[in-house]
Amino acid sequence: MSNIEQTLSIIKPDAVDRNLSDEIKKIFEKNDLIVKESKKIHITKEEASEFYKVHQSKPFYNDLCAYLSSGPIVVMILEGKNAVLANRKLMGATNPKEAEENTIRRLYGISIDKNSVHGSDSVENAKKEIDFFFNN
Ligand code: CDP
Ligand code: MG
Repeated sequence: MSNIEQTLSIIKPDAVDRNLSDEIKKIFEKNDLIVKESKKIHITKEEASEFYKVHQSKPFYNDLCAYLSSGPIVVMILEGKNAVLANRKLMGATNPKEAEENTIRRLYGISIDKNSVHGSDSVENAKKEIDFFFNN
């Protein structure tokens, strides 16, 4: 009996640039989310646009895709009990100013766009997002 899940996490350019990847990974591991896979990559704006397609009608879409492709990112598969929700809780609210204390976004986020991490929001999207970055 287990609800061991996998979820996709991304350390965004602002956090990679400030060398926060190891600290953020430690937060996952300390909270029983195992980093199963991890790679540092630099995606194109086209790839970012495909990844964030769900937001294509939003006013921030263009800036968001430009931002995610602006520098190296670290993409990871996290695994653990209720990993999707557990990761979302560790991340905190989208806007770092609204994120609870000790969440990753509260600790490290700079602004709503430079908010240091991405995390899948459902098991279904986690599968799609993992497949997007780790499909070979
Ligand atoms: O990342 P999360 O699932 O918490 O938020 P989202 O609503 O799925 O939005 C995706 C990303 O778009 C956020 O993480 C922000 O970086 C960015 N965003 C933004 O720049 N301005 C907004 N008003 C809302 C989101
Ligand atoms: Mg989201």
